[in-house]
Amino acid sequence: MWMLRSLRVFLLVARTGSHPAGSLLRQSPQPPHTFHAGPCLSASASSKELLMKLRRKTGYSFVNCKKALETCGEDLKQAEIWLHKQAQKEGWSKAAKLQGRKTKEGLIGLLQEGNITVLVEVNCETDFVSRNLKFQQLVQQVALGTMMHCQNLKDQLSTYSKGFLNSSELSRLPAGPDREGSLKDHLALAIGKLGENMTLKRAAWVKVPSGFYVGSYVHGVMQSPSLHNLVLGKYGALVICETSEQNANLEDIGRRLGQHVVGMAPLSVGSLDDEPGGEAETKMLSQPYLLDPSITLGQYVQPQGVSVVDFVRFECGEGEEAAETE
Ligand SMILES: *[C@@H]1O[C@H](CO)[C@@H](O)[C@H](O)[C@H]1NC(C)=O
Ligand SMILES: *[C@@H]1O[C@H](CO)[C@@H](O)[C@H](O)[C@H]1NC(C)=O
Ligand SMILES: *[C@@H]1O[C@H](CO)[C@@H](O)[C@H](O)[C@H]1NC(C)=O
Repeated sequence: MWMLRSLRVFLLVARTGSHPAGSLLRQSPQPPHTFHAGPCLSASASSKELLMKLRRKTGYSFVNCKKALETCGEDLKQAEIWLHKQAQKEGWSKAAKLQGRKTKEGLIGLLQEGNITVLVEVNCETDFVSRNLKFQQLVQQVALGTMMHCQNLKDQLSTYSKGFLNSSELSRLPAGPDREGSLKDHLALAIGKLGENMTLKRAAWVKVPSGFYVGSYVHGVMQSPSLHNLVLGKYGALVICETSEQNANLEDIGRRLGQHVVGMAPLSVGSLDDEPGGEAETKMLSQPYLLDPSITLGQYVQPQGVSVVDFVRFECGEGEEAAETE
């Protein structure tokens, strides 16, 4: 098992460069302060003490606390009032001061209910915040909102259906049956509470009739807030399979297929007739199978009585990385 895990990590690194694997391991220990901590300031001993006191009390940055003390003639009480006033009046309100701050960390959420599976991505600025329960609750809300949206779509299906929601479509979705407002309202609340810019990045959903199965896998799994069927992590994949017979192993096969998609990042399904390809192959069925590279994925899946028809793969922050390297 250790071998498999290290192989997967290796493949993830090989495919995507060191950054994503690095971010799986990294925990940036940034304090959840409202404002940026400024550079060290030189000050006399007594005003330094006041500064420390004010900062401890209010949690605002050195820069803002120093400014407050200067403005209020070193009066601690007044400085505190000034700080709070400024925070509102000058719109040091969090959302406004986050202008242009990049969101490329965050979480992928996978939620399965009956024959509907949804995959969502919500971004924040630091991995630290992605571990916060309030952020995870936001991801849960987005997954539930997407699930509800999908349940309300009236369609008679003879085959599977798949859809995507972009950021603005997600913003408009109602948050859920027992929550007021839209997802956008919940986004604003979370930004206010956690002090980081956040983005409801995207969602995908898949709905299947009988005869189909949706395999899924999430890499870098974290404890999810409360829903037992919600899984949170850094990479997620759904694999839509068609299967004629009852197959007791479907869950296991589906998870392996999801692992393959996360690790090998195919771009299309391809066909069983395609030639086997090497490490750089992008057609899923022709790729070397992640867990046994001596065969192709097609050669693994065919004898199982399962055919792969489609997939979705989300990698947390992938769009932002591409935009950065351009
Ligand atoms: C938040 O981040 C997004 C994506 O990085 C960016 O487009 C947007 O301008 C930021 N929002 C704010 C309020 O700065
Ligand atoms: C999101 O999708 C809608 C509907 O497909 C489209 O009209 C809109 O331009 C998209 N918005 C963004 C930001 O891509
Ligand atoms: C999904 O499952 C429900 C209940 O099991 C069923 O009524 C519905 O027809 C299914 N949807 C599709 C698209 O097969």
